[in-house]
Amino acid sequence: MSCRVVVLLSGRGSNFRAIAEAQLPIDIVAVVGNRPQAAGLAYARERGLTAVALDHTEHPDRAAFDALLADEVARHRPDLVVLAGYMRILSPAFIARFEGRLLNIHPSLLPAFPGLKTHERALAEGVKIHGCTVHFVTAELDHGPIVIQAAVPVRADDTAADLAARVLEQEHRIYPQAIRWFAEGRLLNRHGRVNLKDDPASQSVFPHGV
Ligand code: GRF
Repeated sequence: MSCRVVVLLSGRGSNFRAIAEAQLPIDIVAVVGNRPQAAGLAYARERGLTAVALDHTEHPDRAAFDALLADEVARHRPDLVVLAGYMRILSPAFIARFEGRLLNIHPSLLPAFPGLKTHERALAEGVKIHGCTVHFVTAELDHGPIVIQAAVPVRADDTAADLAARVLEQEHRIYPQAIRWFAEGRLLNRHGRVNLKDDPASQSVFPHGV
């Protein structure tokens, strides 16, 4: 039986698109967005997937909205919930309900630069290597067990947009990879560390020719 995946997103949805096109052994059973106009939801509809818009602005507070969101996600009986540019902090109750089967992608080499504006902050700090991280979500923001990371060089003349584009290309490689591993049952998540069954060396990606 293939792995049932629910995707949560807020915007453009390029990571979702990369996942949907990667021919993974998964069944994307629903795509849920908190902004009705999200391009990612339109793309889901184009692909004939179940797309659900739940507008957070119509709900009084985070706890109330997240309770509704959790029920909507659970209704699709996911084995895995994938945050693909879901730009709202999730409540502890939501995370607890899906912990261990909730993945996120973050545009930095965690634990460096949790939170927003990662590319601007990387440039401001003068780091020479930047990148992205897929991790399991825990109650602490952008701190859960790391599944895979990819590194990119930072060039002297980079703008934040240049760096974002270079990192995004890697996001589109590592997120499908992480989901494939999860679907294949190859992620061993113990004591806050994730190891890969059979091939522990391949959890970091260094791009060629950049
Ligand atoms: C990505 O940079 C992702 O790392 C971050 O939000 C952005 C979403 O982009 N969490 P997209 O909607 O997948 O194009």
